[in-house]
Amino acid sequence: MKKVGVLISGRGSNLQALIDAQPRLGAYQIALVISNIAGAGGLARAEAAGIKALVIEHRPYGKDRESFERAVNAALRSAGIDIVALAGFMRVLTPWFVAAWRDRIINIHPSLLPAFPGRDTHARALAAGVKLHGCTVHIVRDAVDDGPIIGQAAIPVTPQDTPETLAERLLPVEHALYPLCLAAFAGGDAPPAAFQPALNYWFAANPR
Ligand code: GAR
Repeated sequence: MKKVGVLISGRGSNLQALIDAQPRLGAYQIALVISNIAGAGGLARAEAAGIKALVIEHRPYGKDRESFERAVNAALRSAGIDIVALAGFMRVLTPWFVAAWRDRIINIHPSLLPAFPGRDTHARALAAGVKLHGCTVHIVRDAVDDGPIIGQAAIPVTPQDTPETLAERLLPVEHALYPLCLAAFAGGDAPPAAFQPALNYWFAANPR
């Protein structure tokens, strides 16, 4: 069973989805949660599930991102973590950290990558007039929101949509996709094998 460390910055709803699916999927064990923000909502979710939760604030390290990451790395190593899952972790990782965990960090991003990396994905998708929006789970590389895709799930965009309605409709899709992708990744399924089950899962569960 692969031991997973989850990095968060906020409310942790994706962390909750990973926690909730853990017994059903039986492919990974969340052993540590680290937040770079004190008081992040996800910390209470970890504690409620009996998972060790740490705050390692980035702020005291100022511009020295690598020193912050060395502290995170030390905590992950001492917990015996195999896979790092980013779940709403809003810090860009340095090439040093990405190399230290090469092929062992995954991320969820609220767009159909490679479209709309970065922030404000819902507003940018609407402005571009796309008819499908979605989310992507991918292996982390140096560039922001870049790297081999493990799984994607799509939702239709309607003329009535706003950035808020898109975010609200996409979030449960993220929650369905991320655990499946983490389980596939932890089980050693190379992309694109993980892709089809995850995508098919969403459309089967939500016919329109
Ligand atoms: C999620 O929508 C996630 O996809 C996004 O932040 C939100 C975190 O919510 N991640 C990114 O934008 C990363 N580039 P959560 O804390 O409730 O899981």
